[in-house]
Formats: sequence, C-alpha cells, structure tokens
Amino acid sequence: MTLALGVLISGRGSNLVAILDAIQQGTLNAAVKVVVSNKATAGGLELAKQRGIQTVFLDPKAFAKEINQREAYDLAVGKLLQEHGVECVALAGYMRIVTPALIRLFLSKMVNIHPSLLPAFPGLDAQRQALEHGTKVSGCSVHFVTEGVDEGQIICQKAVVIQEGDTVESLSARILEQEHQLYPQALQFMAQGRLKVEGRTVRILQS
Ligand code: GAR
Repeated sequence: MTLALGVLISGRGSNLVAILDAIQQGTLNAAVKVVVSNKATAGGLELAKQRGIQTVFLDPKAFAKEINQREAYDLAVGKLLQEHGVECVALAGYMRIVTPALIRLFLSKMVNIHPSLLPAFPGLDAQRQALEHGTKVSGCSVHFVTEGVDEGQIICQKAVVIQEGDTVESLSARILEQEHQLYPQALQFMAQGRLKVEGRTVRILQS
C-alpha cells in the first residue's frame, strides 16, 4: 500500500526534498499528493513544482475576517488535504501552530519533525536553545502532532553531539543531515502500518 502524503511547509523545504528523494529511491512507499504552504515565499513550493508535485499557497490573511481565524484556516487546509486524497500529513518546517480543528481530521496520522531531542527545547529556535542551555547532546525527533506544541508521542529520534565552538548554524546543519535520514524512515514505518501508540509510547512493530 502506498501512503498518500500531504506535506505542510513554511520555508526552504529540505525535509520535503528528502521525503521526495526517498520515494524516488524506493525506500519510502508513499506518494506526495499535495504540498501546502502558509508562506508565499517558501522555497519548498518551487522545489515541489519542479518535481511535478501539486502545490498550494494558502494565505492566512485571507481568513483575517473570520471570528476563529486559526480554526478557519486549519479547516481550509484540512479540506484541501482531503480533496487531494491525503491520509497522512507530514509537517516539514511548518512554522504555525496547528489547531485541534485540523488535528482531529488526521488523528494519529499527522507527524512533525523537530530539531531537538524532545521533550527538551520545544518551540522556536530549538538549536539555539540547546546551545544556550549548554547541553552536550542534541538531535532531532519525529513525533505525532497533538494539541500541545511538540508534545505528541515520539516516534523516533537521532542524537547529535554538540562540539566545542558549535554555532547555531553549524549545529543546525549537522542536525539537518540527521533529519533527512530520520523523517523518511519514520514515514516508512507509518506506511508499513508498524506504529503502535500505547499511551505516551510508540512501539515500532517488526515488519
Ligand atoms: C528543520 O530543521 C525542522 O526540523 C525545523 O525547521 C527546519 C525546516 O527546514 N522545524 C521546526 O523547528 C518546527 N518546530 P526545511 O524547510 O529545510 O525542511
């Protein structure tokens, strides 16, 4: 079975490209049905277009008059994803808090990648937070999306050792390399139906 993916982005889109590469190489049994961005300038939109993937820029400003702007926006995103036959949603550098209105539509089928070893350093600037805290190890996490920001059950993680003299840029680059391995792998577990959530724990079943 091929997993029908929708990818939400806000920027560069290197994780999106890693997902598309893995699909092309046959290590991820999925198809990206649509890429949605909340930013018109997101570089990932162009990269997806070049590969013949459907892209949509959905402008949050178009929902400014709604009473519940965030929910209205998320309902529109959800509708779009459903219209494209998406069954699983991957947040890849999507810098917007997702409301329950959208989470509900893809319960246990929406995942995110975050550049820290959660639950450490959720939210913005995770790499900077790790450096400023003086941790010796950071990394990246793929987790289910739940209502709390970066609080969902962790699917898999990869550690990255912090080196003396590391800057936000150097650490981010080393973490990003690991993200590009980890995200397609986590999605492949999802595609294979191998993820079993038990409370806070995600078990990866044998294939
Ligand atoms: C990645 O490092 C991703 O983990 C991070 O943004 C970057 C997006 O890069 N996401 C978050 O911080 C989410 N809280 P990309 O656009 O090149 O994939």
